[in-house]
Amino acid sequence: MIVQNSTATRQAIIEASRESNRNGLNQGTSGNISVRTDEGVVITPTSRAYETMKPEDLALLPLGGAYGAYTGPYKPSSEWRFHSDIYAARSDVNAIVHVHATYATVLSMLRKDIPACHYMIAAFGGPTIRCADYAIFGSKELSDAVVKALEGRLGCIMGTHGMIAVGKTLDHAMWLAVELENLAKQYYLALQIGEPVILADEEIARVDERMKHGYGIWG
Ligand code: 13P
Repeated sequence: MIVQNSTATRQAIIEASRESNRNGLNQGTSGNISVRTDEGVVITPTSRAYETMKPEDLALLPLGGAYGAYTGPYKPSSEWRFHSDIYAARSDVNAIVHVHATYATVLSMLRKDIPACHYMIAAFGGPTIRCADYAIFGSKELSDAVVKALEGRLGCIMGTHGMIAVGKTLDHAMWLAVELENLAKQYYLALQIGEPVILADEEIARVDERMKHGYGIWG
């Protein structure tokens, strides 16, 4: 569902940004959030405090505008490239949450994919959450790397950087961001005491089927 470029949509992005700092998914002005709207992509401005942010402070990357064109009082997030490129590559995605959550970022420092160490990985569309190659923040190289890591998935880790969760709606993307950080934490902790058992791809496909027909609201 494509939402309107309304005050309510913009306020929801601000609330989600504040929530990501409250629930430990993010800290300070790290991270950025966007939503696909009827008029283009609405995205948080670069480096501004979420606590004092107002709906009119968000940037709009207008539909059909040149790559990088924006309207708004402040520059869009420095990561506007990957936000734009993910929406262009993925018609199933209407919201993007990028955060520097601690455990996902620790795994990203080791360049570790998350394997199927827990069945909840199926919520991301397959048996792995990939770690994208490192590239400097804000770059086209980073954008290309994350679009690739997200192929067939609703989340990825970003080499020596953080993570991205994408969803059908902002609530869906936020839910996945929390789940991704939880999986990263559980995987990290399991690695401290041994080698976690990895579920087979066929089992993750079965979980995916079961989730579609009997679990949750995102199926
Ligand atoms: P912005 O403040 O420009 O969105 O950048 C934060 C960030 O996480 C860059 O990757």
